Amino acid sequence: MSNFDCKNKFKPDTEGTYIKSFKEYQSLHKKSIEDPQAFWYEKAHEFLNWDKSFTKVSSGNLKYGNVKYFEDGYLSVYQNCVLRHKEANPNGIALIYEADNPEEARSVTWLELSQQVQLYARVLKQMGVKKGDVVTIYMSTSPEAIYAMFACSYIGAVHSVIFGGFSSDAIKARVLDSKSEVIFTQNFTKRRGRTIPMKTTINKAIEGIDFVRKVLVYGRVKNIKEEINMKPNRDILLESLLEEFQEGGKYENVYANLQPMSMNAEDPLFLLYTSGSTGKPKALIHTTGGYLLNAALTHKTVFDIRKGDRFGCVADIGWITGHTYIVYAPMLNGVSTVLFESTPDYPSITRYWEVIDKWGLTQFYTSPTAVRFVMSCGTDPLKDFSLKSLRVIGSVGEPIGVEAWNWYFKNVGKSRCYLVDTYWMTESGAIMISAIPGATTLKRGSATLPLFGISPQLLVKNGGSKSIELSMQKKQRKFSEIAENDQSGILTIKGHWPSITRTILGNHKRYLETYLSPYPGYFLTGDSAYRDMDGYYFIKGRIDDVINVCAHRFGTSELESTLTLHPKAVEVAVVGMPHKIKGEAIFVFCVLKDKHTEEMVIKNELKSLLQTSISKIASPEHIVIVDSLPKTRSGKIMRRILKKIVRKNYEVATYGDLSTLLNPDSVDSIVSNVKKIL
Ligand code: PRX
Repeated sequence: MSNFDCKNKFKPDTEGTYIKSFKEYQSLHKKSIEDPQAFWYEKAHEFLNWDKSFTKVSSGNLKYGNVKYFEDGYLSVYQNCVLRHKEANPNGIALIYEADNPEEARSVTWLELSQQVQLYARVLKQMGVKKGDVVTIYMSTSPEAIYAMFACSYIGAVHSVIFGGFSSDAIKARVLDSKSEVIFTQNFTKRRGRTIPMKTTINKAIEGIDFVRKVLVYGRVKNIKEEINMKPNRDILLESLLEEFQEGGKYENVYANLQPMSMNAEDPLFLLYTSGSTGKPKALIHTTGGYLLNAALTHKTVFDIRKGDRFGCVADIGWITGHTYIVYAPMLNGVSTVLFESTPDYPSITRYWEVIDKWGLTQFYTSPTAVRFVMSCGTDPLKDFSLKSLRVIGSVGEPIGVEAWNWYFKNVGKSRCYLVDTYWMTESGAIMISAIPGATTLKRGSATLPLFGISPQLLVKNGGSKSIELSMQKKQRKFSEIAENDQSGILTIKGHWPSITRTILGNHKRYLETYLSPYPGYFLTGDSAYRDMDGYYFIKGRIDDVINVCAHRFGTSELESTLTLHPKAVEVAVVGMPHKIKGEAIFVFCVLKDKHTEEMVIKNELKSLLQTSISKIASPEHIVIVDSLPKTRSGKIMRRILKKIVRKNYEVATYGDLSTLLNPDSVDSIVSNVKKIL
């Protein structure tokens, strides 16, 4: 861990920050754990407007997975996310749309947002959508997708946003599983200047699914001749329908007085599919009250949100990061939010920096993958941009290695912005571990400390001598909480918090088995972590990503962040391979900056980097230079594919669900490279 021990003494201007000191953080965190009823009662009234207040803060437990928050309270999502800001600031900017083509960028005021959401809601109502029905949204990150999302909760429907890059097979599985009868989509989308079909992908996905009654098609790309094959009675052009509800339209007076639904706090707000380590993608359900509260609170706390801020999360709305920190949290906190439809290098590698300066963004939130990508292009693209409006920059989705942390902090944050490495997951609904501007002293590579209501515990199987031993009565399976610092273990969260996912759609048993039953009383994150002497958490990666070489454990992220310190390595993935003597050995896949680099030289350099930075035992068995790594669309390397390949399983058909794979071509080329050496 020597790479990570650098204490950064940076402190921002604490004036105006929500949490003003480390002491205040500590005392609030303590209260949130020791007296959660009082803590959440107060926050629920501070952040949300209730149509009918609740009498009970929470009930239920992790044993049965029947946790409820604010269960007899009622609130309107539209009132909290749109109406109150429209009334206070009708002409203020709610949405900033950075379309793929920067010339198509536009902004949407709170007034326009409220009008559009109401129109979309009336359309849904007209389509016969009722409370609790699932509406699929297969659209690019755009204002129209946001209107559709808010229109759902306006009438009490549950949205299921499917990432716009998914294939028809992936969509089909999700529509079948959620039994969604109505779908919002668009004719085409734009990606790096190319026109990409969406409606015809939907056509293929729902072929033969008779329960899909309506497909509402937004004409995202205008003046295009290409056929989208509208099916009579099922498919409707959204714009023409919307017009009919407007002044002078055929349906002008139909549902004109439609009021936003007052939702029970435990009513589902949305479901979102995510891949587990096994089985089919599962739909996680998030509820209305608890999810919204923690979205707003974590956003305010972690990003130092102030009035007039312009928040730039450049994720896609198809992922939990998009749901929580593009849509719900900024809208709840009444600040402008960026909808970024493009990529960091389109039309040029300066795109992110242009967007920040053009709109005066106050926060910028992205993934380590994106940081490493812009880093690989050097600092030249940044030279014409001041980025002076930024106060907080954030990272999410995977461990941010030391090199990327340094680069991001220095070149984007200009060594003056707070860098928050935010640890969380689809299941948690909101950030769980992160630094807080003005309160937390940063440490490179650490997500730092838990947020309110989160009690991280490191567990070890079979108990440790100094730990409190807990035993599962039925199976006699034993595990212990690691009480000491400077230790690593299985990262769990003790107890529950308001935005914890309540269940898996149609499969509560799988929910219990995956998250709650393995360690009763604890939510299993699936990650392991190291807690240093100061109690700071360093996420080491998924538990299944730990490699055990000669009984020495190495986290793949630890190995990878060391290897990416090599100036010629752009990206690295490390997996364990079975080894006769060592148990497991280290297998390295590396993407180089310059394809003409002498391979033998670089392989030796990478080997000695691991030997000298970590240990001789960490010396890799094999290093393979590849053109690209298999990645999910959210930028995560799909290590399970690499694990199969290094186990000499070359049958792609046995690799499980590949619907989230961004670059299927990478797999064949890796297989042929590995075959040459194994
Ligand atoms: O392994 C952790 C990693 O991403 C996983 C959750 O993935 P997903 O549900 O797709 O959500 C990603 C966006 C919230 C976690 O189990 N992860 C997420 N954030 C971090 C991280 N690993 C290290 N550091 C982080 N900041």
